[in-house]
Amino acid sequence: MVKICCIGAGYVGGPTMAVIAIKCPAIEVVVVDISKPRIDAWNSDTLPIYEPGLDDVVKACRGKNLFFSTDVEKHVAEADIIFVSVNTPTKTRGLGAGKAADLTYWESAARMIADVSKSDKIVVEKSTVPVKTAEAIEKILTHNSKGINYQILSNPEFLKEVYAHWVPEENIITTNLWSAELSKLAANAFLAQRISSVNAMSALCEATGANVSEVSYAIGKDSRIGPKFLNASVGFGGSCFQKDILNLVYICECNGLPEVANYWKQVIKINDYQKSRFVNRVVSSMFNTVSGKKIAVLGFAFKKDTGDTRETPAIDVCKGLVGDKAQVSIYDPQVTEDQIQRDLAMNKFDWDHPMHLQPTSPTAVKQVSVVWDAYEAAKGAHGVCILTEWDEFKKLDYQKIFDNMQKPAFVFDGRNVVDAEKLREIGFIVYSIGKPL
Ligand code: NAD
Ligand code: UGA
Repeated sequence: MVKICCIGAGYVGGPTMAVIAIKCPAIEVVVVDISKPRIDAWNSDTLPIYEPGLDDVVKACRGKNLFFSTDVEKHVAEADIIFVSVNTPTKTRGLGAGKAADLTYWESAARMIADVSKSDKIVVEKSTVPVKTAEAIEKILTHNSKGINYQILSNPEFLKEVYAHWVPEENIITTNLWSAELSKLAANAFLAQRISSVNAMSALCEATGANVSEVSYAIGKDSRIGPKFLNASVGFGGSCFQKDILNLVYICECNGLPEVANYWKQVIKINDYQKSRFVNRVVSSMFNTVSGKKIAVLGFAFKKDTGDTRETPAIDVCKGLVGDKAQVSIYDPQVTEDQIQRDLAMNKFDWDHPMHLQPTSPTAVKQVSVVWDAYEAAKGAHGVCILTEWDEFKKLDYQKIFDNMQKPAFVFDGRNVVDAEKLREIGFIVYSIGKPL
């Protein structure tokens, strides 16, 4: 039986391994992590990650061919294939701080593999790493190799050996190692660039009276552009887009390509601009002050159907509103109060580092309250900001929300999920990203 061990039971390691386990019953998959609470959660009824369908997949294989363990060294020693899926955050200090990827966790995993291995291994980098990392890792692994053969693969999205069980052959791309590593950064940079492009257009639409949804629809009809990933928003979030672009920028700078670095940097600048533009719109619409006013925030996760809040635009928007002395009441169906308070207390780039570097009991931001109901959040509020496109926000009883709000009642739709015309009929003043007022 082929044994796979995945180091890192996070957002990538956990779900990826669960799918491998269910698709390949003849392969034993063990996911290991140094974080005991995380492993305990994977072994419990409340998984550490929310994603539609994940519970069922884990329950179907856990204890059969899928295991979660903190005994990292034992399972690494026994495995034939090792996936390394540890975090690769942005460096917070030293050379490249604020841009370069911090490979501390990757390197310590590689050293541990070298220390405990007694048989040949295929080592797969699943983490997103800078170009040529695999070469560095090979040096670490073979340095005290004791005659062990290591094969290093970079598998940011696909791995033939295992995926061939269910992915059609023609969909599996084989490239040289460096192309594989760079493809991952390039893919995320291109995707993020599309969002910054449409968000830049949204500002122009607001200035000219055009409607960004109509513009997106029209240009998406050109098959060379395509319709996907053209939704204007309050800004992109998530653990990877910003981090990977900063990493790309750093690599360009290190390779003497400042023009290329500046080109990609602009994608992040537009994203930051979009978030602050949203906050400015809220404050300026509400007569230039939100001081002491209650603002309801609906949605905190970086996108719908997840409890993941890493780099969510809601953090910057809430910090902006709090900075202007608003009383913010937040509701998200999947994010806990503890998580929100921690996110609002954390410094930029600290979020992807281990918990011991983060405030364990953050000083709660007093102007922020977290509630478990959208109506409760909006009760007595002067304005509602929609920051995540949860489906349930489309179906809310907006008449009821309006009746319980201060007047004039404002809605700032950062995801273009509500029917603005219907809300205007109710009496709301509605601002939608990139649309005429
Ligand atoms: P994560 O922070 O959710 O999980 C990483 C886990 O690795 C943590 O639980 C941590 O405790 C563990 N870990 C760190 N060092 C370890 C060690 N030496 N031994 C054992 N466990 C260790 O991160 P993630 O979101 O799963 O991302 C992992 C990697 O995949 C990153 O490089 C990221 O850029 C990349 N990636 C993430 C996504 C995504 O959607 N989140 C998608 C594609 C690629
Ligand atoms: C992204 C990529 O889509 C994945 O292919 C990649 O594997 C992953 O990053 C990674 O490397 O981490 P993810 O961050 O999970 O996936 O989510 P996306 O669906 O890409 O959304 C990212 C952000 O962009 C979200 O905040 C989303 O709301 C925003 N977005 C997306 C828009 O504002 N407009 C759009 O049209 C699409």
